[in-house]
Amino acid sequence: MSSEIFAKVQRVLEILHTETITDATSLESFRIKYLGSKNEIKALFGEIKNVDNDRKKEFGQLLNDLKQAAEEKFELFKEQLESTSGSQSATDLDLTAPVEMFSSGSRHPVSLILNKIINIFGRIGFTVAEEREIEDDWHNFSAMNTPEDHPARDMQDTFYLKDSTTELLRTHTSSVQARIMTTQKPPIRIIAPGRVYRNETISSRSHCQFHQVEGLYIDKNVSFADMKQTLLYFAREMYGPQAEIRLRPSFFPFTEPSAEMDVYWGLNNEDDYRITKGTGWLEILGCGMVDPNVLINCGIDPEVYSGFAFGMGIERQAMLQYKITDIRQLFENDARFLRQFSGVI
Ligand code: PHE
Repeated sequence: MSSEIFAKVQRVLEILHTETITDATSLESFRIKYLGSKNEIKALFGEIKNVDNDRKKEFGQLLNDLKQAAEEKFELFKEQLESTSGSQSATDLDLTAPVEMFSSGSRHPVSLILNKIINIFGRIGFTVAEEREIEDDWHNFSAMNTPEDHPARDMQDTFYLKDSTTELLRTHTSSVQARIMTTQKPPIRIIAPGRVYRNETISSRSHCQFHQVEGLYIDKNVSFADMKQTLLYFAREMYGPQAEIRLRPSFFPFTEPSAEMDVYWGLNNEDDYRITKGTGWLEILGCGMVDPNVLINCGIDPEVYSGFAFGMGIERQAMLQYKITDIRQLFENDARFLRQFSGVI
């Protein structure tokens, strides 16, 4: 008698193992069959009275195992169904249906130009150096050979931190030169991209925050010719193999001699006349041989080492490249504007 009942349990167990589900309805049928109020396992419990006394314990154990197996299987099925819910079953999967396009973000035009510049200089051995945006007066001005009475230090141009005459938002990435030269030994070959701040009235042409990339190369026997060749290489990588450059004498407190570099943009249409003020040349960056005073300030012997530095604005180049007419668009993060750059790398 007992063995017959045991065999019944065994059969239910076997069937349980072969159960599968395909959707919520079959999951519910499974639940009713094994875990519902009138489930099959419960019915088997009712048979315990017919089991021989000495096997009752064994029988009870077997039914408990069966019940637990059913519960575990139910949980597993439920999880399976949840993880595939929304997707269709294999039989009615339409492989010709158009895919659902996921929308990826876009790179900001400033990042696009920055990355391009970093790549160009990276190919000739310049590594990226990043430093703080909140600077002190020494790294931003004094170390950079900017005299105490220089107009750039004026409250009108520089954002000083509240109640401070020494802590400020850096006005140029040249502060990174001081940070690197005081902590690293030559040869130094770095490119320093970053945000800078100036107390300027915001308009379509200027903003109180923008980005610059600084370059610095210090070693023995670095000459003005090295700088010119490096900048020509940059201009041709950035603006095409035909690009021409010219250097005009200029002044910066931290370089001597100093120059401004123009790239020939052309005069093919009315826009070119407007952008280049009728000359065809476009000013791109400031540069020069690092002033010996700057080297001394930063603990580098100017008798042994020399170097060149350059700095350029990013927004202007982004505006030229992508024909953006208002600089404020670069800071407003209007998704409609930014979306235009999706897919550009
Ligand atoms: N710091 C200068 C500026 O903000 C640019 C520059 C950097 C010029 C390095 C010469 C050398 O305009």
